Amino acid sequence: MSATISLKFKSFNADHIAKLEGKTMVVLSSAGDMDAAGMKIDQLTQGALSYFAKSEGFKKLKSGEIVEFIAPLGMVSQSVLLLKLDFDVSINDLRKAGSNLAKSVGKEAVNLLILAENNFANILFGFTLRQYDFNNHKSKNIKDFGTVSIFCNDPKIAKEQYNHLDAIAQGVFFTRDLVNEPANVLTTEEFADRLEALGDLGVKVKILDDADMQRLGMNALLGVGMGSDSPSKIVVMEWNGGGDEAPLALVGKGVVFDSGGISLKPASGMEDMTMDMGGAGVVAGVMKTLALRGAKANVIGLVGLVENMPDARAQRPGDVVISMKGDTIEVINTDAEGRLVLADVLWYVQQTYKPCAIIDLATLTGAIIVGLGHENAGVFSNNDEFCNDFIAAANAENEGAWRMPMGDAYAKLIKSRIADIMNVGGRTAGSITAAQFLQHFIEPDMPWIHLDIAGVASVKTETDFSPKGATGWGVRSLNRLIVDKYEKSSN
Ligand code: BES
Ligand code: ZN
Ligand code: ZN
Repeated sequence: MSATISLKFKSFNADHIAKLEGKTMVVLSSAGDMDAAGMKIDQLTQGALSYFAKSEGFKKLKSGEIVEFIAPLGMVSQSVLLLKLDFDVSINDLRKAGSNLAKSVGKEAVNLLILAENNFANILFGFTLRQYDFNNHKSKNIKDFGTVSIFCNDPKIAKEQYNHLDAIAQGVFFTRDLVNEPANVLTTEEFADRLEALGDLGVKVKILDDADMQRLGMNALLGVGMGSDSPSKIVVMEWNGGGDEAPLALVGKGVVFDSGGISLKPASGMEDMTMDMGGAGVVAGVMKTLALRGAKANVIGLVGLVENMPDARAQRPGDVVISMKGDTIEVINTDAEGRLVLADVLWYVQQTYKPCAIIDLATLTGAIIVGLGHENAGVFSNNDEFCNDFIAAANAENEGAWRMPMGDAYAKLIKSRIADIMNVGGRTAGSITAAQFLQHFIEPDMPWIHLDIAGVASVKTETDFSPKGATGWGVRSLNRLIVDKYEKSSN
């Protein structure tokens, strides 16, 4: 397991503040007002807080920013972290304040004195998301996070209030752990085992192996894995919390390593292709969140797990495969493998589970990074209402998502001379032709969104809510979409 924090909810008692160990955080309103905790600390420190509240330094501080007072007088705590907060602060600003706090706290133990009940959960959520450290493969100097004690008027109610957000954080961490894992550890089999463990949370897990997929005619998917010693698999995860409605289907690209296959990638940067299962990672994270919070919705998650390797048995550029749909695909470039995997999983989910709508997630194209950088995932859809609902959820969660165009003119670019369709277009509009390829395997009236997450699944610089590496982008947005649009009565 990666290092994450452990939370303890405790009753607030002003008389205990002097003896708290570690770092202690308290909120000061932008007007300089203090709550009971602030007043006690002010008293213990002989007016240090009220003195600071009247200073220029405090005026210059922005809402959500933190000042640290080292070795406060009259207190055991090693420091007091003072968080300035506007009265009318948005959910996202609260979460950002929490992530600022995480950066000030580091791995020390911390006492959070956030008495305002409407604020504490989102501050704690932002804090928790940032307190993640993938240290599985460090052999030395491993430091765990210190305990986080949350002081509140009613610990039981506060804990219940936080449960929903905690389930999301656990889902995000599950995604990050999978995406950060190297490919010699996270083989297709290991991935399937980790998903099978979701069974303990009440998720129904089914695994299709090579023979099952042969029988179903999934030659597009199977072709990709032919050069690998790791067996290709599809894992189906069902969460049935919503009665007998048709499920929302989430489909993820799970290429555990993408060498490019015979169309081999250049050496530089190839090591990053351990994250090419990012779509499958997000699907897994959402399923975990839904199970942990007992979502009242039917959601089915499917991941296509393969490894794309060059080998004597690997498929060649120029090969033609017959997909499960029955349509033939000319494989021009074996490095455009994600769409081949998704083609069969998308067709399978429509035939087998009759979903009400489908969202697929994939680290599909380098071209989406050229277009949108690392700030936004590319959103492609055949249904405006569905697409707008998703983008609204992503905006509410502050996860970048930008709609891209589609259309027949782009579909023409992937017509093959010798087969029904080919797996790459020309040099232009690479992310859009990839999306057009996927749409070829979507029934005409099926609401569908494709999320190209190549730029956002894993990043080289830290973000507001994650350290360098896997971000868990999408878990929050998809969970919110499910709460807003698919849940019988939202929590
Ligand atoms: N996995 C890659 C896309 C990718 C690139 C993900 C960078 C994350 C970061 C995908 O399978 C791929 O190789 N796509 C090719 C398609 C091309 C051959 C048409 C690409 O984007 O170059
Ligand atoms: Zn590729
Ligand atoms: Zn790939």
